[in-house]
Amino acid sequence: MFLLMTVSCSEKPGDATDKKVEALLSEMTLKEKVGQMAQITLDVIGNGEGRFSSKEPFVVDTARLRKAVVEYHVGSILNTTNNYALPTAQWNGIISLIQKVAMEETRAKIPVIYGIDAIHGVTYTEGATIFPQQITMAATFNPVHAYNMGKVTAYETRASGIPWNFSPVLDLGADPRFSRQFEGFGEDPYLIGEMGEQMVLGYEGITDSVGSPYKVASCVKHFLGYSVPVSGKDRTPAYIPEQVLREYHLAPFKKAIEAGTEAVMINSGIINGVSVHASHDLITKLLKEELGFEGVVVSDWMDVINLHIRDKIAVDNKEAVKLAVNAGIDMSMIPYEYETFCDDLVSLVESGEVEESRIDDAVRRILKMKMKLGLWERPVTKFEDYPEFGSAKSAKLAYDAAAEAITLLKNTDSLLPLSKTMKVLVTGPNANSMRSLNGGWTYSWQGEKTDRFAQGYNTILEAIRNEIGEANVKYVPGVSYLETGSYYEDQEDGFGQAIQAAKTVDAVILCVGENSYTEKPGDLNDLTLSANQLRLAGELSRTGKPVILVLNEGRPRCISAIEPSVKAVVHTYLPGNYGGDALSDILFGDVNPSGKLPYTYPSYPNSLVTYYHKPAEEQKRAEGAYIYESDYNPQYEFGYGLSYTTFEYSNLRTSSSVISGNNPVEIFVDIKNSGNRQGKEVVMLFSSDLYASVTPDVKRLRRFEKITLEPGETKTIRFEISAEDLAFVGPDGKWITEPGDFEIKTGTLKTTLKYE
Ligand code: BGC
Repeated sequence: MFLLMTVSCSEKPGDATDKKVEALLSEMTLKEKVGQMAQITLDVIGNGEGRFSSKEPFVVDTARLRKAVVEYHVGSILNTTNNYALPTAQWNGIISLIQKVAMEETRAKIPVIYGIDAIHGVTYTEGATIFPQQITMAATFNPVHAYNMGKVTAYETRASGIPWNFSPVLDLGADPRFSRQFEGFGEDPYLIGEMGEQMVLGYEGITDSVGSPYKVASCVKHFLGYSVPVSGKDRTPAYIPEQVLREYHLAPFKKAIEAGTEAVMINSGIINGVSVHASHDLITKLLKEELGFEGVVVSDWMDVINLHIRDKIAVDNKEAVKLAVNAGIDMSMIPYEYETFCDDLVSLVESGEVEESRIDDAVRRILKMKMKLGLWERPVTKFEDYPEFGSAKSAKLAYDAAAEAITLLKNTDSLLPLSKTMKVLVTGPNANSMRSLNGGWTYSWQGEKTDRFAQGYNTILEAIRNEIGEANVKYVPGVSYLETGSYYEDQEDGFGQAIQAAKTVDAVILCVGENSYTEKPGDLNDLTLSANQLRLAGELSRTGKPVILVLNEGRPRCISAIEPSVKAVVHTYLPGNYGGDALSDILFGDVNPSGKLPYTYPSYPNSLVTYYHKPAEEQKRAEGAYIYESDYNPQYEFGYGLSYTTFEYSNLRTSSSVISGNNPVEIFVDIKNSGNRQGKEVVMLFSSDLYASVTPDVKRLRRFEKITLEPGETKTIRFEISAEDLAFVGPDGKWITEPGDFEIKTGTLKTTLKYE
């Protein structure tokens, strides 16, 4: 029976949806409900033999589709096939067929919800607008770019027929070794929250709802504490005190939930010995009860069965399912053996080991999300309705984000911008690669197919040639990444020729960093830049020609061995398909750089401390007489980034020197562009709690604003902060602002506020 009721005028839309959900739920059999909680990967219903191995061309095997959707009532499908991007027409065909079977051949006629990782543009759709990765977005310190990326990606995801996006990543990028650092917004909880909120709004809409054909449901991930395993390696144990979990990791998720995110994906890892997928405390008590999250909680890939096969806390699949569902998982990204998930869960309910009310709670959440998305009315979209897909307008937004993110870290003697009449050598393994500009999750999971799909865009080399003419540009790779085998290994590739070529030009643009990767394949043994690349940089510098070091990497690879010998350093992060153009525009002065580091760039692999460390990390300052070489000693600090103009901060003042109760204090500062070209500046406001019962962080970012100033122009910036902004989490897990003095800092200026 197809249950859709009409809505009476006095009812709020939410109430009407709730009623429809309840009516539908009350009609469903246990098997139908359990099926809604199952999510499978596309290859399971494809024409191949096994995992990730559908035949080419991919077609849906209708017998497999019917078994999953009609016999087992599977409610959700994810991912692409054979791990690469498909054309929109093919997406449309696949999803139309799935919905036809789900809505015409099943009793309950519930549409399937298709989910995808469209994490910087629509990863798995050919011709989509590919934006910079989130870490690059964070470097803009301009949340408008996160909103724009969300908005365009939502539109293009729906144009592909897909209504649910497993994005954004709100993990705390506090460990630069982690292979997914580039997927997040950096190390600062406040910055992550501000950017994450806007990305969620971009996906789900501000004035319109997720039911709009141009919006998708977002899914914030990976709740909670995913990004800081002790070893730095993906999906290995983390030890995080509750105090730290709450103060640094939780805030961005809380903000995204308040912004209305429809779904949350759970951390695949293990915290304090507990697999998060089995943690009732984190999923039910914290996320659902304390934060009041009413949407869908989805597992990560294989993480229910992982409780058995990886973490050994369940003796078999059945126990794993029981632990996860009772902990509060609503949907399992199984993604292969759905039969055992469904059969085991039915039997667990029948034996009373899982309450049917828990199943109802899960299914209620899933049905509600499907209804809010309008899947009954519009089970699939028509590509013709999306004329803006891959448009020049969207490309401009992706370019603008890259241009505002790229960060100038060093510029000795104002070497940059370069004159367009200069002769340059472009060299290094990242100089001529779309793959390294984009990183993982680009056209394929590991991004290794990018050069095939992104031929129409410019690598750094191509962009520089376009900018100053082929005759002025020499190219020798010097070092290149291996095509096969480890994603990290590189080899000499015209090393000697690169050194010879350097001697014949005015400047060397050396593009180093990493090849693409993500997750386990991105685990790393040494954060230092590779030996071949360091050697290339050293030899090039010894030619006496000025070397501009361009960093193109998903995490900060240590460069302290070569940094002093290069004249300029420009960090591109993973700037996406338009990153080559944006970089070239910065190098040759068409764009004034305004990006700022969203993390601490470490000097050494053994000194990985975030900017919000405790005073004890800086003992050399207190001791004076001794040299504590390995104290806090970053290569570049969080928030650092130069411009081709200069800014002067003055006149820092507050509306009151005392904060009391909930009354906010206004803080003003004047910023002047004291140079001779237009520029953008990120005005950041930090606070330091001078003395506290828990050793305080040396400073914390509380507000920021990006402004544009003409030469000679001055603007007054106004911030407002209240006692709540100065709080920390005590050992009891509760937020507290303790009375006392706080230093407020912006630029080089400081003032003091007293909290009473
Ligand atoms: C990742 C998730 C992703 C999921 C589906 C997992 O391996 O951890 O971030 O959403 O795969 O592709």
